[in-house]
Amino acid sequence: MTRYTQVFLATAFTSRSKQDIEILQDCLFCINEQGMIARIVRPEDLDYTAVLAEYEQTDHFQRIEKGSYLLPGFVDLHIHASQWAQAGTALDLPLNEWLNKYTFPLEERFSDLAYAQLVYEDVVQTLLANGTTTALYFATIHKEASILLANICAEKGQRGLVGKVVMDHPDETSPHYRDMNVQTALEDTEEFILAVKELSKTTKQGVYPVVTPRFIPSCTDESLHGLGELAQKYDTHIQSHCSESDWAHKHVQKRFGKNDTQALNDFGLLQDKTVLAHCNFLSDEDAALFAETGSAIAHCPISNAYFANSVLPAARFASMGVDIGLGSDIAGGFSPSLYDNARQAVMSSRMLEDGVDPSLPADERGVSDSRIALNEAFYYLTAGGGESLSLPIGRLEEGYAWDVQRINTLVPTARLPLFDNEIELTDLFQKMLYLVRPENIQDVWVQGELVHSRR
Ligand code: GUN
Ligand code: FE
Repeated sequence: MTRYTQVFLATAFTSRSKQDIEILQDCLFCINEQGMIARIVRPEDLDYTAVLAEYEQTDHFQRIEKGSYLLPGFVDLHIHASQWAQAGTALDLPLNEWLNKYTFPLEERFSDLAYAQLVYEDVVQTLLANGTTTALYFATIHKEASILLANICAEKGQRGLVGKVVMDHPDETSPHYRDMNVQTALEDTEEFILAVKELSKTTKQGVYPVVTPRFIPSCTDESLHGLGELAQKYDTHIQSHCSESDWAHKHVQKRFGKNDTQALNDFGLLQDKTVLAHCNFLSDEDAALFAETGSAIAHCPISNAYFANSVLPAARFASMGVDIGLGSDIAGGFSPSLYDNARQAVMSSRMLEDGVDPSLPADERGVSDSRIALNEAFYYLTAGGGESLSLPIGRLEEGYAWDVQRINTLVPTARLPLFDNEIELTDLFQKMLYLVRPENIQDVWVQGELVHSRR
């Protein structure tokens, strides 16, 4: 007769807007069989005591003890699952040399399914342990290994959006690592889409196929056009890289006489479920086209420090109405933790605002109004990621999925520096975002299912 399959009594934090967080203190989070938040009962609600009494003595009930707090699971909007194998190495070259020397030879190895399994299982598990409940993945060009990644997400309980990478341009790919021709690239993509859609039917949290032209330089006009058609035919998400570095941005301008954004739009690749990584060099017209089509930016602040030759003007694009989320961009970024990426997003934005060359006068050094606050970075990690993907995730709100991480601030090996009993919850929230390590992330749920636990 119980209405809810699980009820949690907890204090939690969620974004109310880009500027504000909402503190849900001692609330009852009522989860239904589908793993969705059916209701949040607040202490001031008339039936709070009645709901608590109904569930408290049952095994549907969990009390999150003092010292532990709930946050929404994070959304990684851009990660190369295969590149996990080289994370933390080989960040010494400019983007195009890095791709040719390190990255393409590594990705080539994913024709070997045993190797793919080893790396993919580890990256999915690692992301869950870091509080990432949804990830938008690039796999490699290999259809079978890409399907394997979707299967691993399904098994481990992560909400995975997975793309078989397309790269068929003979000039910007290696003969050892490219789609043989347009036809095979599109056929493999279509078969991949159908296989993942089939898998999704039996996957509670959902897995999604993503149309994935690597970036314009590595794709022919024909494959870009065909991929736009496939995305429309199957109503899939789309991902790619966009105006990332001086080299990549200029390469596209030279080829098409326009920026990536306009070119991708011409190929039918900008739509509400499009997420484009980096986007550092968008013009105002490009950003307006993002806002108009509902396309989102995956902001990858750690990776940008190595490859993008610039800092993303996130505050400016957000103020223009562009959806933004955060991406680890493993292995352009070394860290699988979106906490680390949120910290870097805030720090990079401060450096953009203040400027970095001390030999210049202060008023000439930076770009005013560029900073983003910690609350805004948190928004990108959660609600912004959900909106970018057009999925009901990233907020603790009725009608959203129960994708949640429990942060224990009192873990002996990673105790947060809390010395005053009466710390304001807003201060506690900031400490968590800046200081949490994987040891503090003690439980992780996706769609109501416990998928990671350190207890
Ligand atoms: N542009 C095209 N491919 C890649 C990639 O793998 N990583 C990054 N950071 N940029 C890219
Ligand atoms: Fe990338």
